[in-house]
Amino acid sequence: MKIFEETKLGNISLKNRLWRSATWLGMADDDGFVTDAVKEQYKRLSEGGVGNVIVEFTNILPEERTYPGILSISADKHVDKLKELADIIHSNNANAFIQVGYGGSTTSMPTEGRIVWGPSAVKNPTNGFAPVEMTHDDIKSVIEGMAKAALRARKVGFDGVQIHAAHGYLFSQFLSPYFNKRTDEYGGSIENRGRIILESFEAMKAMAGEDFPVLIKMHCDDEWGENGLTVQESLWLSIELEKRGVDAIEFSGGNIDPESGNSALKPRILKQERQSYYKRQVSKIAEQLTIPIILVGGNRNLGIMEEILNDSNISYFSLSRTLHSEPDLPNKWMNNPEKKPRCVACNKCLAPGGNICIIDRKRKK
Ligand SMILES: Cc1cc2nc3c(=O)[nH]c(=O)nc-3n(C[C@H](O)[C@H](O)[C@H](O)COP(=O)(O)O)c2cc1C
Ligand code: SF4
Repeated sequence: MKIFEETKLGNISLKNRLWRSATWLGMADDDGFVTDAVKEQYKRLSEGGVGNVIVEFTNILPEERTYPGILSISADKHVDKLKELADIIHSNNANAFIQVGYGGSTTSMPTEGRIVWGPSAVKNPTNGFAPVEMTHDDIKSVIEGMAKAALRARKVGFDGVQIHAAHGYLFSQFLSPYFNKRTDEYGGSIENRGRIILESFEAMKAMAGEDFPVLIKMHCDDEWGENGLTVQESLWLSIELEKRGVDAIEFSGGNIDPESGNSALKPRILKQERQSYYKRQVSKIAEQLTIPIILVGGNRNLGIMEEILNDSNISYFSLSRTLHSEPDLPNKWMNNPEKKPRCVACNKCLAPGGNICIIDRKRKK
């Protein structure tokens, strides 16, 4: 098996096994609409040879704005501009998916004057902010928001939608015993902590149609000891999602505690032995599944990815920082499989007014 070979995801043809993992650019306008700057970035990405583009984290409820410049799919008025984006990606012979979710207390936006929900009122270690514990009605509105977002994604013409259940946002908080202290049917056992995700998944398929692909990005492991999601719990949820017809799972990991050093965006990963850093946990989970599995985190070397592809049940590889820095890396790899990515994994990707790789920001000065 090769990275540069065509495969199928259900009825969709994938020209290669590379995915662009959802990557927030911070270039939408204040109402979450696609701007020319957003379109330009996705044009460069889709021209660069990646087979499958997952458009960044997009908010599902109108009152939510997790980060500055985040996209929104919270109302029908967003559909037309998102269609322009999907068309650009498709016109460059890449598939277009979109990631949707609810941010919650993992936010850099002001929290005064708006209600920010969480599974429990536990302070977020990234910003010290404690959200409002959700009632059952609040949970229902998020599930309904996810379902409507999936229907809008279909109307736009995306090839599928991805649930964001990773990286400390609402759904991964529900999964994590660190954030989820509930004693009702949404807290406690993994069956309860995973309930909001399974109910959202079912509602999304019911509203957008069983044939509309719904993917999920979730943790293989929170790397947070007994306070986090374990590999066994992640496997349980994956099996439940598989039974319900999830179309693919993208596995990330880590946690959002800045003190822990176990972030999903690991720095200092230039050495080959530090790359593809969730391969051990994800290979273990993938052995028990038949649905397509996408590995994200530190995929920087074609040879290593092909080794994982041939030695495990992992079929696809997702890249964020390397493509953020060098959108045409897949085309370069096709000509020279030994090519080293330009990205140095310094994690200085964020910038006010739009996330541009620091190497390009320095050049502009
Ligand atoms: C600037 C930036 C924005 C990101 N935004 C998102 C996002 O919107 N959704 C998401 O699931 N992950 C997001 N991530 C995490 C990446 O998708 C990916 O999981 C992580 O960077 C590890 O992959 P990598 O080693 O290829 O960068 C972001 C990462 C960066 C650097
Ligand atoms: S800022 Fe650093 S980590 Fe981010 S894309 Fe550029 S080189 Fe990579």
